[in-house]
Parts: sequence; C-alpha cells; structure tokens
Amino acid sequence: MESHVPAFADADDIAMVERLIAAHGGRGALLPVLHAVQDAFGYIDEAVIPLIASGLNLTRAEVHGVVSFYHDFRSAPAGRHVVKLCRAESCQARGAAALEVAAVERLGVKMGSTRADGQVTLEPVYCLGLCATGPNALVDGAPVARLDAAGLDAIAARVAA
Ligand code: FES
Repeated sequence: MESHVPAFADADDIAMVERLIAAHGGRGALLPVLHAVQDAFGYIDEAVIPLIASGLNLTRAEVHGVVSFYHDFRSAPAGRHVVKLCRAESCQARGAAALEVAAVERLGVKMGSTRADGQVTLEPVYCLGLCATGPNALVDGAPVARLDAAGLDAIAARVAA
C-alpha cells in the first residue's frame, strides 16, 4: 500500500472516494466531490484529502482550505443528533445569540463540536430561509421555529433519548 492511503479507510472506502471523484469530473468539481464524500461518510476525513487533491489535480492545501472555509463540511464524524442554530441576521435580531448561550449550557456541548458522549453535535447555520419565524434551528434535519427555552428543553430531551 502507498503511504497516502488513509488509515481510516479500507479498500472499499478508497474505491468509493475514487468513484465519487470520477463521477464529478475534473478540477472544478471540488465542492460536488466534497459534498458527495461527506454524504457517503458523514464527514471529510483528513486522510481523504490527499486522494481528492490527487484526483482533481489540486494541492492538499487547496482542498483543506475549502473544507475548513465552508461550515457545511465536517472534519470529524457528527454525534448521534445534530442541532444547528441559525446565526444569520434575522435570527440574531430575534435573540439567537442569547439562545446559543443557553443551548451550549443546556446541551453541554460547545458550538461547533460534538459532546464527549457522542450524543449531540452543535453547529451554526447561516439562514434556513425561515427568517420570519426565528430564532430557528434544525434538529436532525427538521426545522424548529421560534426556538425558546421550552424548545431547548425538548431538544435536550430528544438528545438524551
Ligand atoms: S436568518 Fe435565521 S432563518 Fe434566516
């Protein structure tokens, strides 16, 4: 095996990444490839970056830069539940900042990370297109509008289950 083979991946994983790269074409396909890899694996493992760079004729730094720039990409597996809080302007005007402080405390996890027990990941999101009903969140992919303390309690109960 060559040294660039990712430690996390078996031969099937590597083959899947290579298929995803091939399916999305050449140099301009970085974002679609990254989305496809994250859809397939749940995150972009550091060890996959050299494969993508090589497959798309990019540098590792270019790939890494895009992964770290976009909030949508994860560099580690998510928790069992994923809670995304909207940080964009309309939700901020409706109290999202204070809600975020409360969510961090209530869920026991820092923003942008996964709790040590793996039960929940808390992430920012920048506008869900539901601005009139903010502050908004996405909980395991489902929108939650007008989030308040009671809503946080409900999310905490769901995460504990
Ligand atoms: S600003 Fe939060 S949904 Fe648009």
